[in-house]
Amino acid sequence: MEKMGKYNFDEYVERRNTNCTKWDNLDKTFPRAKKDSIPMWIADMDFAVADPIIESVHRVADRKVFGYSTRETDEFYNAVLGWYKRRFDWELDRESIMFCGGVVPAVALLIRLLTEEGNGVIIQRPVYYPFTNKIKENNRKVVNNPLIYKNGKYTMNFEDLEEKAADPNNKLMILCSPHNPVGRVWTEEELKKVVEICKKHDVFIIADEIHNDLVRKGHKHINLQKLCPEYKEHIVTCLAASKTFNLAGMQMSNIIINTPELREAWLKEVPKSGAQHNPNPFSIEAVIAAYNESEDWLDELIEYLDSNAKYVEEFVKENLPKVKVTPLEGTYLMWLDFNEYGISADELETIMLEEAGLIFDEGTMFGEEGSGFERINIACPRCILEECMKRIHESFKDR
Ligand SMILES: Cc1ncc(COP(=O)(O)O)c(C=O)c1O
Repeated sequence: MEKMGKYNFDEYVERRNTNCTKWDNLDKTFPRAKKDSIPMWIADMDFAVADPIIESVHRVADRKVFGYSTRETDEFYNAVLGWYKRRFDWELDRESIMFCGGVVPAVALLIRLLTEEGNGVIIQRPVYYPFTNKIKENNRKVVNNPLIYKNGKYTMNFEDLEEKAADPNNKLMILCSPHNPVGRVWTEEELKKVVEICKKHDVFIIADEIHNDLVRKGHKHINLQKLCPEYKEHIVTCLAASKTFNLAGMQMSNIIINTPELREAWLKEVPKSGAQHNPNPFSIEAVIAAYNESEDWLDELIEYLDSNAKYVEEFVKENLPKVKVTPLEGTYLMWLDFNEYGISADELETIMLEEAGLIFDEGTMFGEEGSGFERINIACPRCILEECMKRIHESFKDR
C-alpha cells in the first residue's frame, strides 16, 4: 500500500524472540498449531508505536533508576483530562480517575466491590471471555443476555435484558462498548435503553470502554456516563491508552469511579486483594506522550485499520462467498462466520491451526454463540493480513 502519512504501518516489526505473548512460545500456547503459524489472536498490534512514546521511554531509561513511581502529578492528569476533552468533549473529574494495572484486574475488583457471592452479573455474549472468568472466579453467577445475530448483524435483546435485570439477585451488568468481538459501536439509542433498564431495576454498570478510540469512520463512540449523567454514580467506566496506542504491556488503565464512597472502598480493596497499586515508571511517561503528542499517529492508524478491514471484506466477498464478515464498526478485531461450511467448531479450529497455520481466537471462547466464528486481529501490516487471507482461501476454496 502507498505510504501516505508520517507513519509507516506497512513496516514489519520483528516481534519474535522479544518476550512477546502473541508471537513467542507458540508451541506451548498452541501445541496444535503448525510451525510458522501466523498469530492473529491476542489483542495487541504489530505496529511500532508513535515516535513521541518511544522517545519518552528512552528518556526514562536514561534516568538510570527504576524505583517505585507515582502518577499523582498535574502533568499526568492533564494529559488524560485533555485527551477526553479533545476527543470526546468529555470533562472528566480528576478525583474520579483511579489507577489499575489493567482493565481485567479492575473488572475483577469491581465485581467484588459491587456484588456478593452468589449474585448474578449480566454480560452480553458472545463477549470478551475474561468477563466470564472473573465472574466465576469470584463465585458470582454468569447471567447471559445474548446478543441477537440476524442477517449478519448484532443487536441487543432488550426484552431479555429487562427480564434479567428485573431479577433482584442480578446486581451488576458488564457492558462492552465498543463490543469485542462483534465489533459493534453502540448507538445513543441503544445505550440509553441499557441505562433505562438498569436504572429501573437498580443494576450497576461497569462500562468497559477500552476500545473507545478505535472506531471506524462513520461511527462515533458514545461514552455511557457522559450520555447519562443522571446515572453516573451507578456507572464505573474502564478506560486506558493501552489498546489505542499499543501499550498493553505497560499495564496502566484509568478506572473512573464517580462517588467518594466507592472510591474509598476501591482504595481499600486494592491492597487487600494484592493488586498492583503503583504504575511502573515507563508507563507514566508513555501514557503522557501518547495523549499529549501522538494524536496524529492514532488518526493515521485508524485510516490504516479501515483499509485493512476493507481489504478483508472485499477479499471474502470475491473469494470466500460462504464466509460472512460481521461489519466492523469499532476495535481491530474482525468477527468472521464460517457456519455455512457446516463443520463443527472443533473442525474449524483444526483446519485453522493444523492446516492453514493461522492462530485466531476461536469463536467458542466468547461463549457458545461464537461457535463457527473466528476472531481475527487485523492490527498488522497488510502483508501479514494478505498472507492470512491467502491461507484461509487455500484451506477453504474446495470445501
Ligand atoms: C473489552 C476488553 N477489555 C479489557 C481488555 C484487556 O485489558 P487489560 O489488558 O488492561 O487488562 C481487552 C483486551 O483485549 C478487551 O478487549
